[in-house]
Amino acid sequence: MSGFVRELERRAGPALRLEQRSGGVGCVVWDAALVLAKFLETGACPLNRRAVLELGAGTGAVGIMAATLGADVTLTDLQELQELLAVNIENNRHLVTGSVRAEVLKWGEDVSGFRPPPDYILMADCIYYEQSLEPLLKTLRELTGPDTCVLCCYEQRTVGRNPEIERRYFELLQVDFELERVPLDQHDEEYRSEDIHILTIRRKTAVGDGLPAPQPSSEQSCCLLGTVGAVK
Ligand SMILES: C[S@@+](CC[C@H](N)C(=O)[O-])C[C@H]1O[C@@H](n2cnc3c(N)ncnc32)[C@H](O)[C@@H]1O
Repeated sequence: MSGFVRELERRAGPALRLEQRSGGVGCVVWDAALVLAKFLETGACPLNRRAVLELGAGTGAVGIMAATLGADVTLTDLQELQELLAVNIENNRHLVTGSVRAEVLKWGEDVSGFRPPPDYILMADCIYYEQSLEPLLKTLRELTGPDTCVLCCYEQRTVGRNPEIERRYFELLQVDFELERVPLDQHDEEYRSEDIHILTIRRKTAVGDGLPAPQPSSEQSCCLLGTVGAVK
């Protein structure tokens, strides 16, 4: 099926060209993906030669941006998104200074092929339906190590069951993880919006493996952020 291309400008060099399709939710670039991709470009999180895994990558916008910033990226999504991810990887391969590939990863299923834990997990607009909450949390628990930084960007929606889904998700997440909100003034100056949030998420303590909790030192901090706000 033919698509329509979304260009995502970059600070250093030509724009990313992201093919989109009509069809499922993963086939277009969502605003949260734009905000997170452009936040990565601010340089707040060191990405060069870091291992990065993106969950629910959709068109691959965020992870491909990370790969242009030197990261070694694995884009993951359902089987039906693999062809679109492959197209977008090829469209932008000449801009990649790290590496990028795509794999199937369905939340809640076996993640043994994705070890060791990456330095970063990226998630844009992945909190949107109730049945996915437990499987997504299971995947996050199993994929993260003590030093993994999860960057989660989501659009706060006020319609239907969305507020309840978000509330439930963050309640469950905070059992095992520490959440901090990246202040809006540290997002990209242009690609920011009051209703699109970026959180850094780290394991609170070992999730059942006896490893120590991460200490809040600048060396261990995943991103070079100023004051970050706790998430209530
Ligand atoms: C709203 S889209 C966001 C896509 C992309 N991150 C963006 O922001 O442009 C949600 C993505 O999550 C993926 N997804 C939904 N349920 C999933 C599941 N159970 N396992 C893996 N991926 C899933 C969808 O295929 C889709 O690509």
